[in-house]
Amino acid sequence: MSIPSHVGIIMDGNGRWAKERGLPRREGHLAGIDSLESVLRRAEKLGIPCLTVYAFSTENWKRPGNEVKFLLQLFEETLMNRAEDLFRNNIKVKVIGRRDGLPHGLLRTIDRIEEKTAGNRDHILNIAFNYGGRAEIAHVVSRIIQDIEEGKEFRQIDENVIENYLYNPEFPEVELLIRTGGEKRLSNFLLWQSAYAELYFTEKYWPDFDGDELEKAIEDFKKRNRRFGGLKEKGGE
Ligand code: IPE
Ligand code: IPE
Ligand code: MG
Repeated sequence: MSIPSHVGIIMDGNGRWAKERGLPRREGHLAGIDSLESVLRRAEKLGIPCLTVYAFSTENWKRPGNEVKFLLQLFEETLMNRAEDLFRNNIKVKVIGRRDGLPHGLLRTIDRIEEKTAGNRDHILNIAFNYGGRAEIAHVVSRIIQDIEEGKEFRQIDENVIENYLYNPEFPEVELLIRTGGEKRLSNFLLWQSAYAELYFTEKYWPDFDGDELEKAIEDFKKRNRRFGGLKEKGGE
């Protein structure tokens, strides 16, 4: 099995990492940015073409107001101040998720970073922010209906049609899905795209995850026998 074409990461465990150190939760979120940087550098080195990271879910609004505010601010500041070193000149950034509910300033910053990196060709980084897999599927259905009402005709609504309406139709389906922080659930992440993903769970909190940990997950992935419902490895004997 070769390198996965798309790796999804549920970056979980920031709060517990901080708590174990007697620090406020926000310190865990801050430390998590360095993990992302380390993972991005290794992903480039390993030649992983596409990465999607889960940064804020549609359910995370349930957290106390000050934490939500901090996460929104941290995201915006990271896009503004750390874009140069995080994305260098070779990562095309796309933010996927619901735009409704996000402050205008943040939306402008998102648009700017997407424009600035649009010409980068080597790697794609999708940042799932205010993202929910169910919300994405609902968005697909409502956009298809809207297009039909506006006169678009489909012979049938098949999987290809649905894929064309996803937030980022450009990315391949998830081959490896990593969750840090010890929980074994999807928490509404990339439900459609992960239908056949290999799952990798680690106890490591996200701030303790780095390029070496990513490489471990990739090594584990390489040993998997992916059958896709058939009897042998796709393309193998
Ligand atoms: C993941 O860490 C980051 C976000 C969900 C934004 P958590 O904040 O969920 O950390 P734990 O799971 O409480 O430790
Ligand atoms: C999933 O983590 C969302 C992100 C990592 C952004 P959560 O900490 O929000 O998930 P639950 O609450 O454990 O399901
Ligand atoms: Mg969590």
